Amino acid sequence: MEKFLWGSATASYQCEGAWNEDGKGESQWDDFSHHSPFNINHVDGDISCDHYHRFIEDLDLMKESHQNTYRFSIAWTRIIPDETGKVNQKGLDFYNQLINACIERHIVPNVTLWHYDLPLHLYKIGGWENRRTIDEFVNYAKICFEAFGDRVPLWVTVNEPGFYTHCCYGAGNYPPNVCDFQRYAKAGYHLMLGSARVIEEFRKGDYIGKIGLVHASGNVETKGTDEANQIAARNADLFNNLWVTDTCIRGYFPDDLFYKLRESQIDLSFVKEEDKIHFRNGTVDFLGINLYCRTYVKPYSGGETNVHLNNKGSGKILEGEVIKGWYETAYDPHVKVNQWGREIYPRCMYDELMTIKREYDNIPVFITENGHGCYDELIDGQVDDKERIEIVGEFIKWMLKAREEGCNVQGYYMWSTMDLYSWVNGYKKRYGLVYIDFNNGNKRIPKKSYYWYKKLIENDLKGE
Ligand code: BG6
Repeated sequence: MEKFLWGSATASYQCEGAWNEDGKGESQWDDFSHHSPFNINHVDGDISCDHYHRFIEDLDLMKESHQNTYRFSIAWTRIIPDETGKVNQKGLDFYNQLINACIERHIVPNVTLWHYDLPLHLYKIGGWENRRTIDEFVNYAKICFEAFGDRVPLWVTVNEPGFYTHCCYGAGNYPPNVCDFQRYAKAGYHLMLGSARVIEEFRKGDYIGKIGLVHASGNVETKGTDEANQIAARNADLFNNLWVTDTCIRGYFPDDLFYKLRESQIDLSFVKEEDKIHFRNGTVDFLGINLYCRTYVKPYSGGETNVHLNNKGSGKILEGEVIKGWYETAYDPHVKVNQWGREIYPRCMYDELMTIKREYDNIPVFITENGHGCYDELIDGQVDDKERIEIVGEFIKWMLKAREEGCNVQGYYMWSTMDLYSWVNGYKKRYGLVYIDFNNGNKRIPKKSYYWYKKLIENDLKGE
């Protein structure tokens, strides 16, 4: 067996800062955080933890804790800043330096092409609702493959087509901040097509790596076991998981998905016959799973569609949704929730991995994100994040159990490498192994979990 990959993850807009340096163009998130009334925590990613200037320090900390892989994303707008399509050499230089610095430290770079930050000019023509974005994505991906494909062993096309569209067009907390299922379906379909077409492009080249897609997964569980609950479970699985996982692994959408969409009066004229061939040819080598919680549901009981996410914290508002005619969220009073109203249920790691093993012929998987967001405090120069250690420790135990039982899980990335911009949640919701003192020159302070993770990696790799 190859060495298990143990590492951590970030995404460009969330950590790089340097939002307008070295020729970078504007992305939808620059625009959102500077101008949108929906930016409810009134912060931006202009500087964030300044990874752009401090990546060497960050990589040294990863190395020091025995992490042997780093998942990060490329900011499309550093490579192609605007609608002229001209390539920005300084953007290529930055990622070349980052990739080379990983390799020098024996840290495997796991590179995501797109993690939410669309170029602003594409966002303005409808983003993923517009097919032109797909062509532009393929063009951008090809430039990245040509520039870095000789050194990158793991590529990811798209981060979380499901959760991203859910936020943009369901909850409406990400730009364009609407609740519109017609637009939701179209953008989601185009994202999957974009991913498939990029994979087709990848297969044409002589690159050393493997390519996958990252899905924000959560195995579905129901309150009851009767027929109504089984139907709700299937609907919730279609809605949250299968349109992504079936499509990128099997190469086609589940039949009953289109049936359900038509039943919900979704106009599917954006689905073209000729796309089928791209989906068939553009399947993944591996699945990345971002796992934070399960999907716990019950039968739809009435009322309009309503999606609510808690971006303000404080623990009082729970997350969940009613999807008209499909299912609704169930709440289990015995399961704890975090300060943002999301279940803390580590066992779902095992259930999810075993489901993927069973359903998809034990495809290689990576846990590309898992972690625990909380309000960490710096006290006397230290952060004692024992809650994170306890919860993430449980998740990892369940992952190792699945591995022991034959699941083809090949790596684990903790979200996140260091504290960073948590999208609409701002900076107070922290996930990092390393604390960032945002008020004190972005000083890096490893948390207790950093040392705990170091030990855990050491022990696991020793046992191999
Ligand atoms: C994942 C995303 O959905 O969850 C990350 O890929 C994100 O970008 C992470 O930061 C945690 O979510 P949040 O909203 O708490 O930052």
